Amino acid sequence: MKGKFITFEGIDGAGKSTHVDWLAECLRGRGLTVHVTREPGGTALGEQLRELLLNQTMHLETETLLMFAARREHLAQVIEPALKRGEWVVCDRFSDASYAYQGGGRGLERNKLHQLESWVHGHLQPDLTLLFDLPLDVARERIAVANRSLDRFEQERADFHERVRHAYLERAHAHPERICVIDASNTRDNIRKRLEEILITICL
Ligand code: TYD
Repeated sequence: MKGKFITFEGIDGAGKSTHVDWLAECLRGRGLTVHVTREPGGTALGEQLRELLLNQTMHLETETLLMFAARREHLAQVIEPALKRGEWVVCDRFSDASYAYQGGGRGLERNKLHQLESWVHGHLQPDLTLLFDLPLDVARERIAVANRSLDRFEQERADFHERVRHAYLERAHAHPERICVIDASNTRDNIRKRLEEILITICL
């Protein structure tokens, strides 16, 4: 069977990361080889770029170019080879995050994002994107309860995160064939049930 590429997206505090490993285990249980990875990151170079991106203040276009530079490396070293071998890739964030954060949150023109997307992976899109959506105050509460130090994006004001959420929902509206919106304020068990249903109808 051909390998599939599944991405997870959502505002900070949506709780998507806890579901990434569960979904991968679920797929492995069906006998599939699954790679779990993340962006920015996923390669040695990408993880170094992640460190900079999450901590270092920089120009918006520099930030965007570094996100796509890390992505180019990730595609070349990890994602494309795995898919070619017929294996599955589950990735915590991908280009929809650039549209949501750099585009929606920070206001970068969509045509610049579109050009970078076409350049870096014009030939490849995720087979399925799971967008974890929830009201901002619930997400903020979760981040506060976690009581850890916040990165550059998490430190942004509420209106930034509202714009990120809105941009994600716009993407979902524009690409219903690929992006499934998950109600992330639901219980963990209900979210798992929903993920299983989606997998059965779309992927298996
Ligand atoms: P994330 O992977 O959610 O980190 P953690 O779960 O460890 O907090 O997030 C990394 C941050 O990078 C997140 O706030 C969103 C941001 N980001 C962008 O702004 N653009 C992008 O293209 C990507 C992939 C991430």
